[in-house]
Amino acid sequence: MSLLKQDFEWLHAHPELSYEEYETTAYIRKRLTEAGVEILPYTLETGLVAQVQGKQPGPIVALRADIDALLVKEETGLAYQSCNVGKMHACGHDFHTSVLMETARILQSQKDTLAGTVRLIFQPAEERSDGALKVLATDAMEGVQAVFALHTAPWFPVGTIGVRTGAASASVDRFEITVTGQGCHAASPERGVDPIVAASAIVSAAQTVVSRNIAPVNPALVSITHFEAGTTWNVIPESAYMEGTVRTHAAKDRELIPARLEAVAKGVAAGYGATAEFQWHAGPPATDNDPEWTAFAAQVAEQTGLQVKEDPANMLGEDFSYFQQKAPGVYIHVGVGLTKSLHNPGFVVDEASLEPAAVYSAALAKNALEKLAK
Ligand code: NI
Repeated sequence: MSLLKQDFEWLHAHPELSYEEYETTAYIRKRLTEAGVEILPYTLETGLVAQVQGKQPGPIVALRADIDALLVKEETGLAYQSCNVGKMHACGHDFHTSVLMETARILQSQKDTLAGTVRLIFQPAEERSDGALKVLATDAMEGVQAVFALHTAPWFPVGTIGVRTGAASASVDRFEITVTGQGCHAASPERGVDPIVAASAIVSAAQTVVSRNIAPVNPALVSITHFEAGTTWNVIPESAYMEGTVRTHAAKDRELIPARLEAVAKGVAAGYGATAEFQWHAGPPATDNDPEWTAFAAQVAEQTGLQVKEDPANMLGEDFSYFQQKAPGVYIHVGVGLTKSLHNPGFVVDEASLEPAAVYSAALAKNALEKLAK
């Protein structure tokens, strides 16, 4: 079995959750060290950064893989199914990690022909949307002029990649609303202020923030996903709690929504004689694929024999966008065979997609260095 397949199957069998990727990190370190790849001395609790340096000093590009898994109970029946029951690489981060390890070996074997340096970033906790910030707290992106990441796409067959210019994923923000009324007997609502009725009106009104404030051609959504109030049937409670997420592609829409949402929550609550408190927790922005580098990534894919498709727009989140704030780059979807959706217990990567992805990502880095060195 190839080193790449060994890595993929080992990683798949040993999934670890965000910020718990100790065994995963140790495994990557061991295998890269065996391959003679230099590991940079950054103090990351989990995750690591390696590099392959050409003979001459030159430009620097970075490739990034995320290494964490999900709290999903695997149902694939694979021979190398998860040993950590209840945890699963259901988003293909085992694919990203093993492909980047193989990329490191390919680049290491071509070291003398590299026109600069390739940083290989193994990032923790992408599923928490903030592992990228741990890496960015080191100087891993120092001097980097272009950055790329691959992500599995179960909507493309093996041998296909999908790219799009601009947003290849949405911004991921979270909000909380607490509505306070006045508790009373369920049979005497006139003696209190019902926070459930007020909060329910807020749930409906919140949908108008997108439909009436955002241009219909711009993707944006507000989802209230958690609603809690009351403890029993004959008491009107004091308060109601809600939380949810906002996703956008355009930065100006992202700026607008929290203020509108807060105004709607407070205004509607006031209309019912209640008050609303609003809290906003900003996550990563939308990815922003650079037009020139996107065209370049497509061109390299064609040269390595891959089919290139326009990636469909989506509202998923991806903290790779933080790297794109440091250097232009591209977030690329790689076909792993048509299978169950990401995060599904039946998600399976077709192993035939591993090798072409590694060859592609090595070519991407090598050619990007040559382009920058010109
Ligand atoms: Ni993912």
